[in-house]
Amino acid sequence: MLPAVVLIGLPALVALLLLAYSATRVSPQLKENQQRVAHTLEVIAAARSFDLAVGDAESAERGFIITGENSYLATYQQNTRAMSERLSRLRRLTNDNPDQQRGMLLIESATEGRLAEMQAGIDARQNQGFIQARKVLQTHLGTATRRVISGLVDSVITQENRVLKDRQARLADFQATNALVYKVSIGLVAVLFTLGVTLLWRGVQREKKSVSELRRSEERFRLLVSGVRDHAIFMLDADGKVASWNSGAQRVKGYKEPEIIGKDYAVFYPREERENGAPEAELRQAAESGSIETEGWRLRKDGSRFYARATLTALHAEDGSLRGFAKITRDVTERRAQEKALEESRAALAHAQKMESLGQLTGGMAHDFNNLLTVVIGSIDLVLRMPTTGEKATELLDAARQAGEQGASLVRRLLAFSRRQALAPQDVDVNRLVTNMSELLRRTLGESIVLETVLGGGVWRTLVDPNQLESALLNLAVNARDAMKEHGTLSIETGNTFLDERYADSHGEVTPGQYVVIAVSDTGTGMSPETVARAFEPFFTTKPEGKGTGLGLSQVHGFVKQSGGHVALYSDRGQGTTVKMYLPRNAGAAQAEELETGRHGNAQVVKDETVLLVEDEPLVRMYGSEALHELGYRVLEACDGHEAMRMLGQHPEVTLLFTDVGLPGGFNGRRLAEEARALVPSLKILFATGYARSAIVHNGVLESGVELLEKPYTIEALARKLQQMSAGRARA
Ligand SMILES: Nc1ncnc2c1ncn2[C@@H]1O[C@H](COP(=O)(O)OP(=O)(O)OP(=O)(O)O)[C@@H](O)[C@H]1O
Ligand SMILES: [Mg+2]
Repeated sequence: MLPAVVLIGLPALVALLLLAYSATRVSPQLKENQQRVAHTLEVIAAARSFDLAVGDAESAERGFIITGENSYLATYQQNTRAMSERLSRLRRLTNDNPDQQRGMLLIESATEGRLAEMQAGIDARQNQGFIQARKVLQTHLGTATRRVISGLVDSVITQENRVLKDRQARLADFQATNALVYKVSIGLVAVLFTLGVTLLWRGVQREKKSVSELRRSEERFRLLVSGVRDHAIFMLDADGKVASWNSGAQRVKGYKEPEIIGKDYAVFYPREERENGAPEAELRQAAESGSIETEGWRLRKDGSRFYARATLTALHAEDGSLRGFAKITRDVTERRAQEKALEESRAALAHAQKMESLGQLTGGMAHDFNNLLTVVIGSIDLVLRMPTTGEKATELLDAARQAGEQGASLVRRLLAFSRRQALAPQDVDVNRLVTNMSELLRRTLGESIVLETVLGGGVWRTLVDPNQLESALLNLAVNARDAMKEHGTLSIETGNTFLDERYADSHGEVTPGQYVVIAVSDTGTGMSPETVARAFEPFFTTKPEGKGTGLGLSQVHGFVKQSGGHVALYSDRGQGTTVKMYLPRNAGAAQAEELETGRHGNAQVVKDETVLLVEDEPLVRMYGSEALHELGYRVLEACDGHEAMRMLGQHPEVTLLFTDVGLPGGFNGRRLAEEARALVPSLKILFATGYARSAIVHNGVLESGVELLEKPYTIEALARKLQQMSAGRARA
């Protein structure tokens, strides 16, 4: 660009210089030359007019001499005056030329002589008449003088003509040179100017091209960013206000561009994170270290949560000042849930494998001990039969036999855990079995503990060893008694259930299908999470030495597993315990009553309802949300009581609150239900819990009459419950 400007500027400068040069130098010279030529022409004209005046004076003189008329005399006088005037003018004009001056002297003297002759002729005619005058005339030099004068004038003219030619030639020369200089300069100016303009044009074209290329690359970049749909890509200014927004951001976070531009990005964070100052801290860290990776729960516009993984990068200007931030966020809720599910199923598998190997070990030992004890007890029996045995010896042998039998009972329980006991499965009606056992259980529990049995209607038959089932129930009852110490309630509930594939996948060694469930709940001390994790292990006990063997729950586990069932344990410290035994349905047996709709039950639900799902465990929340979606409900999610209350305030369309009983932060499901009802009296409330219903009721967590869904729940169970609730409401 610069050379082009120079190339255009230079010719302009040259043209200006030329103008200036012509104004100061060329024009005066030209003028002077022209003046000289004019002067020469003037000299020539003056010489000619002088010569003419001489001629005219001579003619008038002769006219007067011949006629004596005064008119000739007047003409003569006029012309002689003209002669002297023109002569003096000629002298003036030639006084710059020494050569001409010399000629002028000759002309003057010749003119003087001639004038004197003519005056003498005139005088003679006036005073002495024509004859005398003619005589005088004949003495005159006359025409000779006149020829001299003319000759002199001619030579002046000739000389001036020469000068004139010379000057004209010089003038022409000067003009020609001048014209050439102008032509060359103008040519040069034109070439430079054209070159400059060409360069300038090219520069402009280049600039245009680079601008359009820049625009194209900007367009490509914009398309790239806006085309990314699974990542939220947006910019923040230095204060954390949203400055740009892509379609991925709209998809992930739910805000449209005009709604969010200029808003503080802290709106994406849950309340607790905002209170902790997490958004500001992240900006600070990113500004300090350039870029940071973050992850955690974030909020969508509708208040629902998603698990985000994000990169926050600080953007600096060239001078180092902070311009803002670029944020790329990804919704990894599903992936995280899958990772967690995988982790959990791995843990479940590891646990199952551990139990399996423990089983093999204890099973092997128990087998050997069984054989040894058979020999010991058999031998003692044989000795006792001998008549020679004394009284003392019999007493000792009895004690030994008793100990041997205790050992054998231990070994049986070990075998039960190792799933190697000999089972005698029969078609069992669990309701009848529980009823028959009630008396024994009451005695086992003692007077201070209340036994309650809640037996489901139409409970399926199951194919198990009834003796082992009784042992299992007894073991559970003893554990419950030990946990309740002084007083409390033990409840045994029976019912039918379906464990679906999703449940089976997340719990190792479970086959999906129909099960009879027996839930044994107490209102005792409950267990710590560590105890829960190890409770089924053989020999794991928290009881003092000599009190517990740690084989009770392992018998339950081993027996149920060996029978093709599944055991689940729900317990929290201070909340009591529920152990659920799932025993496979004996499909071959005739059923007294068939109430269950089973997994393909035609569960009809009222659609167009919004459910607020409150659950602190993300995996369970995700499952619940999916189940509700599948049933046609709109779902909002909250992870604790505070958030649930906030969302209820924001979403008047919520008609049903589906909440877990045990929520974190001292804001449990019961309190949430109370506060929610106070806010929205018409709200339907459904609780979910892993505990059996009776345990929940007795622990004072819930008053009776509330709707309760037991975990693990299937989609069908949820659908039935929701249907019941809306039917009940319709009747009410
Ligand atoms: N209902 C319950 N309430 C609280 N803790 C329990 C309950 N059931 C079991 N536990 C805990 O689990 C541990 C293991 O129970 P398990 O029945 O296997 O053995 P135990 O009761 O200690 O001994 P055993 O039953 O062989 O006499 C117990 O020591 C106790 O800590
Ligand atoms: Mg026990």
